[in-house]
Amino acid sequence: MNRYGQLFYFTGTGNTLALAHTIAHELDKQRVKVEITNIISCSEFDLASIVGIVFPVYGFGAPRVVNRFIKRLPSGEGRSAFVVANAADEAGPAADAVAKILARKGYKILGATWVKMPSNYIVGRPAISDEQANDIIATAKAKIADFCASIFSPTPPAVNTDKSGSLAHRLMYWAFLKGIKYAYRFYKSNDKCTGCGACVEMCPTGSITLNSGNRPVWCRGCEHCLRCVNHCPYGAIEFGPFTKGKRRYTYWQGKVHK
Ligand SMILES: Cc1cc2nc3c(=O)[nH]c(=O)nc-3n(C[C@H](O)[C@H](O)[C@H](O)COP(=O)(O)O)c2cc1C
Ligand code: SF4
Ligand code: SF4
Repeated sequence: MNRYGQLFYFTGTGNTLALAHTIAHELDKQRVKVEITNIISCSEFDLASIVGIVFPVYGFGAPRVVNRFIKRLPSGEGRSAFVVANAADEAGPAADAVAKILARKGYKILGATWVKMPSNYIVGRPAISDEQANDIIATAKAKIADFCASIFSPTPPAVNTDKSGSLAHRLMYWAFLKGIKYAYRFYKSNDKCTGCGACVEMCPTGSITLNSGNRPVWCRGCEHCLRCVNHCPYGAIEFGPFTKGKRRYTYWQGKVHK
């Protein structure tokens, strides 16, 4: 007999969306039919019996939009849930922290994990080559397959929803949440900007408008997802001095925009 699930995701540059499709494919093998929903466009809930949350890790925690979404999510009432985070290097307690909130809301937690995906954080270092990204993504997909098989196996792994991470991780996430409010101020277009408006269309949070001179203006609400910097077709967006001259992460370009 088929079961039904809903997988809610947020993505900046496409990694998480790709993982959501992998999860849906793997759960199908477990006879769980999954509907994939972008949390940005989800305004009403008609929840299935299994709920999955998949998101990119920001500063060792979940993006603010994911936290807000989980607050809005109806209480568990007999439903099960699982969490999959993804990060470039280290996720800290991000997946466990979300699982903990879901457990408090009354969901039975089937599992919480994270997988390594290519970094989109070119504020730090430039994007790796597509070949290197391919290898990382293949490993991530294999880990997802194991995870999906494990949570529906007759002996699923024990889940501890009391884990809250090290003090260092929690402090860094706290600092990230403080700082993110001001991130929008550091985005600027350079003279390669053609005024095409693609950044306005692609921003998942509607945080970009064009001014009267057809140049982008960033405003509060920006999640610092780096989609606009990485996917501007002309490489015309910089985050302060930090992204100048750095290779963009365009692996999924064109597959994630609204
Ligand atoms: C604002 C921001 C913060 C990030 N913080 C972390 C982090 O704490 N640890 C990490 O390993 N990767 C971090 N990353 C990298 C992303 O989590 C990773 O590349 C993810 O796969 C991006 O997913 P997406 O393409 O769905 O947006 C960060 C990326 C961004 C944009
Ligand atoms: S997408 Fe790039 S080129 Fe187009 S308006 Fe935005 S910054 Fe300018
Ligand atoms: S303005 Fe750019 S970085 Fe901020 S949310 Fe929109 S696409 Fe992401």
